[in-house]
Amino acid sequence: MSETAFAPGETVTAAELARAGLLLLGVGASVDATAVFVPADEQGMARPIQIAAGCRIGAHAVIYGGVRLGEGARVEEGVIVGKPETGYAVGHIYPGAGADTVIEPQATLRSGAIVYAGVQVGAATLVGHQTLLRSFVTVGADTQLGHNLTVERATRIGDGVRCSPGSHLTSSCVLADRVFLGAGVRTINDRELIWRETDRQPELEPPRFEYGAKVGSGSTILAGVVIGEHALVGAGAVVTSDVPAGATAYGVPARVHARRDNAGAAS
Ligand SMILES: CC(C)(COP(=O)(O)OP(=O)(O)OC[C@H]1O[C@@H](n2cnc3c(N)ncnc32)[C@H](O)[C@@H]1OP(=O)(O)O)[C@@H](O)C(=O)NCCC(=O)NCCS
Repeated sequence: MSETAFAPGETVTAAELARAGLLLLGVGASVDATAVFVPADEQGMARPIQIAAGCRIGAHAVIYGGVRLGEGARVEEGVIVGKPETGYAVGHIYPGAGADTVIEPQATLRSGAIVYAGVQVGAATLVGHQTLLRSFVTVGADTQLGHNLTVERATRIGDGVRCSPGSHLTSSCVLADRVFLGAGVRTINDRELIWRETDRQPELEPPRFEYGAKVGSGSTILAGVVIGEHALVGAGAVVTSDVPAGATAYGVPARVHARRDNAGAAS
């Protein structure tokens, strides 16, 4: 980190960034001429940007200070990565501070993805078109995030996870390794809906998805609910209470209809 002449939010080219000593470019990395860099955060603090060997940065990508791309990572057209968060969220004001944003080797950010500062994306993971990863989200290795997901602040997603398109993961959700979400799954962390109605802050309780849990398309998972290891939630369910490990639950509200062993055999 350093104080430089760069103004908060000022965009510069790769050449200008290199001249300021803030660009580390690996062998064979390619940066489209229309990609821009924003070294300084809203507080004027500039951070170096590392682009390892073999990375590819597409047209009109915007890369903020503190981004580190591992070998062979791909940042496609129009991606925004490392953007400092500003504004009010429940009980917290984000001042536009930058942070290290780490994209591990061979990961791909597909065109239109938006990745905020402080996010970590694991090796060989794919982040789909128009998917939004808010501040301090972590995503493991070999995970596939489909297009049009909203992944709110500090959500933790494990290794080998698959999220089909169009889902909403509320802040601080936890998806353990090998979780599968169908399309359009909604998660909720606030029971009371008291946004700015009183001085009291809502007690936020995100849902949790244990190892290998599967959730059918169009389901809604309410605050604090735990979907157990290898449990299966049917399409269109509204899940209001915990689903035990290995159980199959569906309906509105969801009820347990069967229990399965870890290999999927019903009983
Ligand atoms: C829940 C599910 C696994 C049940 O499969 P199953 O055990 O083979 O159940 P069946 O198809 O034999 O249906 C059993 C009964 O449950 C009902 N049922 C099945 N799935 C249901 C669901 N999601 N919601 C409400 N009722 C459901 C069936 O209509 C049937 O009712 P009936 O006995 O009155 O005729 C499956 O229907 C499902 O929802 N899978 C999710 C698929 C998905 O979303 N994939 C994501 C891809 S991106």
